[in-house]
Amino acid sequence: MARISSAVKFSASDGLTPLERAAKNKMMLGLFIPLQQGAWTPSKASRGTDWSFEYNAECAVRADELGFDLVFGLAQWLGKGGLGGEIRFRENTQDPLLVTAGLAALTKNIMLISTVHVLYGWHPLLLAKYAATLDHMTEGRWGINMVTGIKKEDFAMFGLEHVEHDLRYEMADEFVDVMKMLWTTDENINFHGRFYDMEKGFVSPKPIHGRPIIVNATSSGAGQRFAEKHSDIMFITRPASKDVFAAIGERNELIKREARQAGREMKTIINPHVICADTEKEARVRRQHFIDTADEVALENFFKLITGGDTVSWKGAVKDDLAVGGNMQVVGTPEQVVEQFVKLSEAGCDGIQVNFFDYLPDLEYFGEKVLPLMKEAGLRN
Ligand SMILES: Cc1cc2nc3c(=O)[nH]c(=O)nc-3n(C[C@H](O)[C@H](O)[C@H](O)COP(=O)(O)O)c2cc1C
Repeated sequence: MARISSAVKFSASDGLTPLERAAKNKMMLGLFIPLQQGAWTPSKASRGTDWSFEYNAECAVRADELGFDLVFGLAQWLGKGGLGGEIRFRENTQDPLLVTAGLAALTKNIMLISTVHVLYGWHPLLLAKYAATLDHMTEGRWGINMVTGIKKEDFAMFGLEHVEHDLRYEMADEFVDVMKMLWTTDENINFHGRFYDMEKGFVSPKPIHGRPIIVNATSSGAGQRFAEKHSDIMFITRPASKDVFAAIGERNELIKREARQAGREMKTIINPHVICADTEKEARVRRQHFIDTADEVALENFFKLITGGDTVSWKGAVKDDLAVGGNMQVVGTPEQVVEQFVKLSEAGCDGIQVNFFDYLPDLEYFGEKVLPLMKEAGLRN
């Protein structure tokens, strides 16, 4: 027992919640783990990146050791062949909730954020119970990225009628309200809402800090209202604009102002794909290589998926950027990469969540060359 508890116990004892501790950094730092075959880059070029639990665990443990604040797993429902092409982009995918449960025992300080499509067959009681369990397994390090779905086919896969965009957020809102009741009420709960019913629902133990960390990724009005009410962290996507940093600044200002008006403080994070090398030329050549080696079929399907449907996020996506991956790209020497991180910070981003092409070596390089410069620039403690 002693051996187990020393492995999973927090190494910090400052009385802060994991999120409060992370937010002591001017720029929170997350890693988008590669749970999907091909991760973010629909390229045929070879790499070690792998969707297996073992590989993802290595990434998460190394990120934890390097002092990253969070790892994040996305969830996607695709049919045979995934997003297609000869690389069968994202055909194999691991469920992030189960993977984060596995990572709970392997990591110490890092927050573990799992995406859950709450409208695909979940009842709030079940997720509230799983979340409270994960919260205890991780001493408050687990969080949920609430997503409401991108494409119609997902609903059909689950045998459900498609739900219109804003109504999805109304359903998710009631879903979270019920979970919050379960996490904080010390009595059995009877609930009869517009979408969910529950007789004598009860969850114990309660989450350690009242509720797990709540995250969501949205650019729509309905999504933003949802995030203002419930979320601690909101992923923003790069607006379609020539002056990206100015546009991000405006977006952050609006989100935070409206959140404050709703009586909440909102942290925003953006998701850059980082390509960093000792020389700018090397980094640019590497980026171009991903574009030149793109699996055209997979890329086309990825582009259609991300820019299609009724979601507002990602509407500004550019094909060459999607061949590389991430919601924006940060390319250059370690100094140039950190300069761009500083600009994101100045534009009001409270954090970045990075993804890479060849995860383990790229993460190692980032830890060795970029992290020290982030500290020098005052972005990291
Ligand atoms: C960083 C990031 C992570 C995301 N992760 C997922 C995911 O795991 N699964 C998913 O279905 N959608 C994911 N999305 C897409 C959003 O959930 C999608 O944009 C959502 O439908 C919000 O739509 P809206 O902008 O219209 O509100 C992600 C978006 C971003 C920016």
